[in-house]
Order: sequence, then structure tokens, then C-alpha cells
Amino acid sequence: MRSYLQEQGLDAFIVTAPVNWAYLTGFTGSSGLLLLSREEAVLLTDARYVEQAKEEAPGVEVRRSGREPVQDLAGVLRSWGAQEVGFEADHLTVQRFRAWERELPEVRWREVSGTVEGLRAVKEEGELALIRQAIAIAEGALREVFALIADGRRESELALELEFSLRRRGAAAPAFDTIVASGPRGALPHGVASQRRLRKGELVTIDCGALYRGYASDLTRTFALGEVDARQREVYELVRLAQQEGIRAVRPGRVAREVDAAARRVIEESGLGEYFGHGLGHGVGREVHERPVVGPSSEEVLRPGMVITVEPGIYIPEWGGVRIEDMVLVTENGCEVLTSFTRELLLL
Ligand code: GLY
Ligand code: MN
Ligand code: MN
Repeated sequence: MRSYLQEQGLDAFIVTAPVNWAYLTGFTGSSGLLLLSREEAVLLTDARYVEQAKEEAPGVEVRRSGREPVQDLAGVLRSWGAQEVGFEADHLTVQRFRAWERELPEVRWREVSGTVEGLRAVKEEGELALIRQAIAIAEGALREVFALIADGRRESELALELEFSLRRRGAAAPAFDTIVASGPRGALPHGVASQRRLRKGELVTIDCGALYRGYASDLTRTFALGEVDARQREVYELVRLAQQEGIRAVRPGRVAREVDAAARRVIEESGLGEYFGHGLGHGVGREVHERPVVGPSSEEVLRPGMVITVEPGIYIPEWGGVRIEDMVLVTENGCEVLTSFTRELLLL
């Protein structure tokens, strides 16, 4: 961030997104402001969080903000003599910005978009270790839940068991609302678990993830209850092949839309392209969905250290759906699939 300020001729930068200050400093509280100059870093937070911030963010100066945080903000910026000040245009309300403008009429404000997010896209070793652990937790929980799957079980019961297992294995929380989509509900890409009961001969999609020490995992498997017909098998194998082609396309220097295209081509050539309505994947880290976007129009270039999902799906209204989702690390010369769960169609 300091070299960014230098390059852009900014005297200071204000971080307002909690996920971004957590990334930059370690502070996990939900209220505060992180102010960066080219040399200094001050974290302003209220009485609830001051001690926590000192413990979690030893690299920055923690100051308690009073009743008027805008005045504290102004005090720091004035003490730095900051004239050109950047802020996170993606994460600041207009109302809050107007209050800053009124308090600091001498500042030239500059909208900055996606800068911390760009840094976050490339993971460091320590972050990768946490992501690997978040994956191991989710895979363990998924395995445990597979043993409970039976005709007549409700989607919601399976989601509950899964989330309980995630927590027991060390997750702070599920990374997102667990998706269990059975039978025709499989056509809903984000069909969070309902009260519906599973029935023999259905495909069931489970999409789950763990949040572990600030990092998320995200994986999906579709399996069959007991038996499958030819059409179900065919759609499954098509998604599996599309995913394989997507993963094969992941390497540094690739533009993300080319990876999307490699997988999408397989589904389009089969005539089912209209049923794959979302992008192929996304970055995963402190947020389940973060940079880079891996979709048909994404111009982001893959770089070593990025962690992305590869998750093609086919969703046919009233029939159901299939999605297979894995997490992949972009390496120096290709990629490493971080998830280890089998991609064979399991008949449970
Ligand atoms: N679980 C949401 C997603 O796969 O993007
Ligand atoms: Mn998912
Ligand atoms: Mn995903």
C-alpha cells in the first residue's frame, strides 16, 4: 500500500472495509478506520475494540476514537499535513463521505477502487496454510455428512449436521449458508437447504465451506441417491469434463475469461450452454467471493498465488442440476488442485 501511495502521489489512504483492514493489520473488529500515510499507520477504533486491536494489530498505532470519529480522522490527517487523500470508493457511503468533506475542506479526495482487493488476490504462504486448513475442515465435514444421507432425510437436517461438523472441526462458522439442493431444487444454483426430503433416484448438490481463522473454503459435490438414469449420468459427466477442461486451463499469465471459456465450450458444444448461467469461478480468501472474477468477461490475469474456484454447473428448470466445485491454486507453472474429494459420481 505504501508503494501504491507513492506511485499515485497520495499522502494518505483511508481503509473503511473491515475485511481490508483485517487483511492489512490483523484487526478483526467491525468498527474502525485505518489511516495510512507513506510512513505511518493509525487504527482508530472505539472503546469496545481498543484492547483487542492492540493485541491483533501490533504493526500499527491504535488510538481510541471518541464520540466524533470524523474529528479524530481529521486530527490524524492534519497532523500528517495530508492534502491528497484516497478512500475506498467501493466501501464508503455517500453520507459518510460528505461528512469528511465538510470536516476537511482543504483535502483533495480521490476515489480508489479495488486496490487492497488486488493485493488480497495473491496469497502469501501463511494465508495458503489457513486456506488449506479451511478446505480440510469442509472436506471432513462433507465426508461425515455423506454417511448420513438416506432416503427421507431433509435437506435442512443435512445442512445442520454439516455445519455442526464444521464447527466441531475448528471452523469459526460456515463460510456461507450451506446449500443442499435435491431433485428439482438442484436447478437453483444457490438453493440453500429447505425442508424438502430427499428421495431415491435424485441428484443432490451440497455446496459448503468453512471459515477458519479468517479464511474461507468453498466446495461443491453433486451425488445421487441410490441410482441414476442415463440423463443424470450424462449431465454429470458433462459437468465433470467441463470442470476438467477449466482446471487444465489454469496457469499464470492466462486471462481469466479464457479459463471460463475452456470449461464453457464443453457445455455449449453439448447444446446445454443456456443452462450454465453463472461464471466459472472466483477468488477465495478472506471472503468467499473475492478477486479475481473468473467469468466470460473477466480481463483479470492469473498470477501465482491466486486461489480460485472452478465450478461449472448445469441447471435445468424442473429437472434439477449438477455442479462440481473445487479450489485451485495458481502456481509458477500451472496449478494445484487444493481440494481432494473424489469427483466420481457417488451413488449413496
Ligand atoms: N457457495 C457459493 C459459490 O460457490 O460461489
Ligand atoms: Mn460454493
Ligand atoms: Mn464458489
